[in-house]
Amino acid sequence: MNVSVSEARLRTDIERTAEFGAVDAEEGRGRTVLTGTEPNRAAREYLVERLDDAGLDVRVDAVGNVVGRWTPPSADPDAAPVASGSHLDSVPEGGIFDGPLGVYGALEAVRAMQDGGVEPARPIEVVSFTEEEGQRFASGVLGSSVAAGVRPVADALALEADDGTTLGAALDEIGFRGDGRLDAADWDAWLELHIEQSTRLTDAGAAVGVVTDVTGITHCEVEIVGEANHAGSTPMDARTDALAAASEFVLAVERAAKRLADEHETPVGTVGSLGVSPNATNVVPGSATLGLDVRDVTQDRIEELVGHARETLDRLESERGVSTHIERPFDVAPMPTSDRVRRAASDAADRVGVTAIDCHSGAFHDTTHVARETDAGMLFAPSEGGVSHTPREWTDWADCAAATEVLAASLADLAT
Ligand code: CO
Repeated sequence: MNVSVSEARLRTDIERTAEFGAVDAEEGRGRTVLTGTEPNRAAREYLVERLDDAGLDVRVDAVGNVVGRWTPPSADPDAAPVASGSHLDSVPEGGIFDGPLGVYGALEAVRAMQDGGVEPARPIEVVSFTEEEGQRFASGVLGSSVAAGVRPVADALALEADDGTTLGAALDEIGFRGDGRLDAADWDAWLELHIEQSTRLTDAGAAVGVVTDVTGITHCEVEIVGEANHAGSTPMDARTDALAAASEFVLAVERAAKRLADEHETPVGTVGSLGVSPNATNVVPGSATLGLDVRDVTQDRIEELVGHARETLDRLESERGVSTHIERPFDVAPMPTSDRVRRAASDAADRVGVTAIDCHSGAFHDTTHVARETDAGMLFAPSEGGVSHTPREWTDWADCAAATEVLAASLADLAT
């Protein structure tokens, strides 16, 4: 199987995409591409042109997911396609590889197969999902949640940005509100290439990572209520300080997560947000709200950390006299990837002649949703320093090309 990707072609597409919504950065290259904005329109239009140029049939679904289908003469046009892609949107002042590498890696894989005379038996689809980063309309992975049937089209279109604009209106505005619903269940298999956003690949000297599991995520909202009072006239033994109690909670979460991570490596627990009321220097804090993020590849360990957080709150109630409340508004189960896709990716890495390691994904991706509906997997390319969601995010062009070569060989295998 002769599949040789063009690093120059891939680089050109990613660098052109980086120009849309480009931001000034002291170091590196950044972009801000939010759903339904001008940079988003430009990035989408550029993609459609590139898909057209490669002879792919382009369609846009009702929530703006963009798909290009390659149906070579060798393929049964009615066979379930093999699909690959990622997203073109970014976080505010995000990097240039997170998302675009997966979209243009998929397209470059198809172009390489075309150039190499590969004759797949199935059509191959290149996909760009709407709003993976969740910066304007939803909390993330919006387009793939619709493609997986998790969120109905009508609900998605009615989502509102802070300025009151609906997703439907925003897509109309940029000319990317299409028809129908891209359905991940129609795919025979799915493989997403993405930057690793961690350092395990570089630490191991590996060119690609074959993802075994995408972690589950739980978010808890915690409220700790004490008693606001005068910071000068309230004696130390007469206080119910909500922030002091919250501080103990933060450290308890960190201790528990570290202890569990010492044994199992994958679990993480973070208190990432804190609100204090009345938040005044001369007032003993009356209440504190905290946002807890817990992730692991097993539901058991997620439950263990959440359980520990609940016990800590009980302890703070009895030891500090505060009252506490915990809610769990967001909960997505861990998702193992498909054996078949994983094997195809590992074998492809062997054929291409690059070192691959198995790893898990600590970040959420569109693949989490797609994996509910079809055999799905992910490939990681190395991230310099593990840095992402910032203009300092970087993956060497040669590494982008090597990972894309593995993607191409995997897709060729899956589609045979
Ligand atoms: Co991403």
